Amino acid sequence: MDRVEEYNKEHGPAQSAAQQTMSEYMGSMTWKPRERIFDLGCGPGKVTVEMLLPRLPDDFEILVAADVSAAMLQLACSKYTHPKVKFLELDLGKPIPPDSDLRTPGFDKVFSFFCLQWIADQRQAVTNIYNLLRTGGEALVTIFARADLLAAYNSQIQKKEWQPYLKKVQLAVVTYQNSQDPAEDFKKILKDVGFKVVDCKCRKTSYNLENVSRFKDFAISVNPFLNVIPKELHDIYITDLLMEMTKIKFKREEDKDDSITEIKYDQIIAYIRKV
Ligand SMILES: C[S@@+](CC[C@H](N)C(=O)[O-])C[C@H]1O[C@@H](n2cnc3c(N)ncnc32)[C@H](O)[C@@H]1O
Repeated sequence: MDRVEEYNKEHGPAQSAAQQTMSEYMGSMTWKPRERIFDLGCGPGKVTVEMLLPRLPDDFEILVAADVSAAMLQLACSKYTHPKVKFLELDLGKPIPPDSDLRTPGFDKVFSFFCLQWIADQRQAVTNIYNLLRTGGEALVTIFARADLLAAYNSQIQKKEWQPYLKKVQLAVVTYQNSQDPAEDFKKILKDVGFKVVDCKCRKTSYNLENVSRFKDFAISVNPFLNVIPKELHDIYITDLLMEMTKIKFKREEDKDDSITEIKYDQIIAYIRKV
């Protein structure tokens, strides 16, 4: 997920989905003076600074935004400076050590929009969110859970030309794609880790990218495999991916009249509390 240029071009619709979730849930959250806020998987910082920051109470203490991608963070830091916003490199898939400065004094709110699907060890990611929060703290998490794009990754994993590369990258997305009830699966992990689940649901979402070039930019921007596939095979790989997505879409009777550039996906939305 280092394709910053394509990401910036084609992530408006996902950012609007994050914004809609903030509008729905942030009013129900409990806000105290001098809150410490964390945004996990902040990408290029647009959602953090342009959408989340304006919704925070004026007296919040700090907003820490973290991502595993140095390229995303570089862009975020070059574009946004704010006395109370700090960008940080962090892999949410790895344990945050007990003596880390992030765990003490901890945070009152954790937000994470469309990041967890890239982390194979969901339990570890959720445990990290739990450990970052103070008791009474709350989190709002969205996950890209089921989509033709993810089904197409599954088809490509079966193909001998792509298997050696694709197998190197472990993803949670593949798990949710095959699940009958992604929200129920995620809820179970949340409860096992110790969270009180205020709400956890799966929502159908769609948007139209309108032309094939934008559709291709979108597929490149979120692709987690391009870093392990040799550069000279990138064009063939992406063409194959788009073909698989199209085949999957047109197998479904209800979608046969849709444009091929229509993106439909299910997102998990979870609002949780550390008690
Ligand atoms: C689809 S983007 C979402 C960015 C932003 N939250 C938004 O809504 O625009 C997902 C982000 O998660 C980051 N990411 C993927 N795996 C991660 C990990 N293990 N730890 C932290 N961030 C990760 C990617 O680098 C990427 O910037």
